[in-house]
Formats: sequence, C-alpha cells, structure tokens
Amino acid sequence: MQLWDYAKLSDDELLQRIESAKRKLGAVILVHNYQRGKIQKIADFLGDSLELARKAKEIDAPVILFCGVMFMAEMAKIINPDKVVLIPDAQAGCPLAAHASAGEIVKMRQKYPEYAVITYVNSSAEVKAVSDIVCTSANAVKVVESFPKNKGIIFVPDKNLCHYAKAQTNRENIVCWDGNCYVHDRFTSDDVKNACKKHPDATVIVHPECPPEVQNRADVIASTGGMYRYAQSHRGETIVLGTEIGMAERINSEFPDTPTFPMSKSAICSNMKLITLAKVARALEQDMYEVNVPQSVAEKAKIAIERMLEL
Ligand code: 13P
Ligand code: SF4
Repeated sequence: MQLWDYAKLSDDELLQRIESAKRKLGAVILVHNYQRGKIQKIADFLGDSLELARKAKEIDAPVILFCGVMFMAEMAKIINPDKVVLIPDAQAGCPLAAHASAGEIVKMRQKYPEYAVITYVNSSAEVKAVSDIVCTSANAVKVVESFPKNKGIIFVPDKNLCHYAKAQTNRENIVCWDGNCYVHDRFTSDDVKNACKKHPDATVIVHPECPPEVQNRADVIASTGGMYRYAQSHRGETIVLGTEIGMAERINSEFPDTPTFPMSKSAICSNMKLITLAKVARALEQDMYEVNVPQSVAEKAKIAIERMLEL
C-alpha cells in the first residue's frame, strides 16, 4: 500500500491498523509534545526531549516508533541500540540541528582548546559525537553548573538557550553558537505584551528557545515538560504559552479546567507536523523508516548523552 492509500482511510480505520500492527511488532510509541493532537492520543509515552530520552533508554520492547523529529529518534537508537527505531517520516528533521556541523565544532575547539562543548539535544549525532556533554532545555542550567565556574564553555547550537543558561548561572565565559529555532526565535516582546492585554490574569510561560527580550517579560521559562507540570500543579489558572502550539493542545485536552492559549497561533513547527496517522500506520505495517546511526558516531555520541543522563 502506498501512502496515498493510507491517506484515504478514515481515522477509525487507521487507528485499528495502528493498534493491530503495534501488537504484532511489539512496538512502543514515543511522542513529543509538539505532535498533532491525533498523534498525542496514540502515545504510550508523551513528553519533552529529556523525558523521551529517559524513556527510550528503559524500553524493553523490540521496536520503538518515534513520533517527533529525527534527532530524537537518533538519540533513542544511540541509547538503546539493540532496538529497531522507526520514524514515520524520514524528512522530519529539526532545522535548528542543521545550524552546526561536526567540522565547525572541531574548528571551534581548536580556537578555544581549554573550553568544554555543551551541545543541545537539537543537534545531529555527528555533532554530539564531538561534544563533551549533551543537554536539553530542561537541564541546560544543571549541565552548565556541572562544570567548575572558571571553566570556559562553548554552547551549541541555540543562542537563546545559551543566553538563558548564561543568565541563570551568572557566568560570562560561555561562547554562544549563532543558531536559532525558526518557530521560537520569531516571538517578540510585543507578542508577550499583547497576550497580557488579552489575558490579564494569565501566567505567561515561554520556552528558553525564545529571544532574551521575550524571556525577560515572561513569568516562567520552561521546557515543554516544565510547562506541562506547571499546568498540572496550577489547575484552574489561565496560561499563555510562548512555544509551539502542540503544547497548548495537550494541556487543554488533559486539563480542560486550565485554559491554555498559545502566544501565537502561527507558532507551528511544520517539521513536527509532518507526522500523521496515515504515516504512523504505514510505518508500523511496513517497518519504515528505520533509523540507524553509524557505529563509530553512535559510540562517541552515547558518551555525551549518558553523561547528561547520569547528572
Ligand atoms: P523540549 O525538550 O522542551 O520538549 O523542546 C524540544 C524542542 O524541540 C523545542 O523546540
Ligand atoms: Fe526544531 Fe524548533 Fe521544531 Fe523544536 S520547534 S523541533 S527546535 S524546529
């Protein structure tokens, strides 16, 4: 069956196929918070990058189907290499990850030989392989603080998360890479001002991938997992989220008593949204697309990822 044949099926038919293929394969479905609502609903586990990495490590089933972007699926393969890892669309990359290459990091290391390289998970396996340690938006501060205060750091590839880590740790000797996420970097302080005007009682939570002026105006800065936990523990509060719209979709669906608004309805990660029910059904029935990382890269990247998971 081709993708267009799956696309003609109703959601109910696709869900039945997904359930039965999943049982046959013994697959576990991991889903990131930015996925479409319909994909969030088929998750065995739904979370942020750090939560998904931890989950991927402990999975005992033979197959992991990853509904997210490629670096997340690669990370699952690296930390649990005996499993078959599938991603429903091989084109679902993260453009932020493309902001840094392994060759550029090696050159930067030559320029700053005494510095440690901290790499955000939104990066390729090759870049992780030439890094000292990986971090996510949930633990960037903790990872920076795991180095002595006088140690210089090169922080790759998101400049806004780097700014956040610098500000939170009060450190100056951090060199920020010049990358950004096209979804979060577009938020402006006017977006925060307008959201506050529209929802005067709301708590404004923004992702640390947002620009510094947006972070400065927010009430809380958090990873998507942090946003979820905030809503879970502040039921009934109104919340505005400066992040991809999928996060508000999840909170509104699970906590309907906690009105949650995206700061911008156009904050859509089209890469995350490439995953559809039709592609998930095809992936499980036709074992596609299998994610593999060359062993020499995977072994080195694993060291940097494990260092983070051990913190
Ligand atoms: P989280 O780790 O906060 O889920 O963020 C992932 C991401 O891609 C943010 O754009
Ligand atoms: Fe990458 Fe930005 Fe999409 Fe997150 S929202 S996956 S950083 S492009």
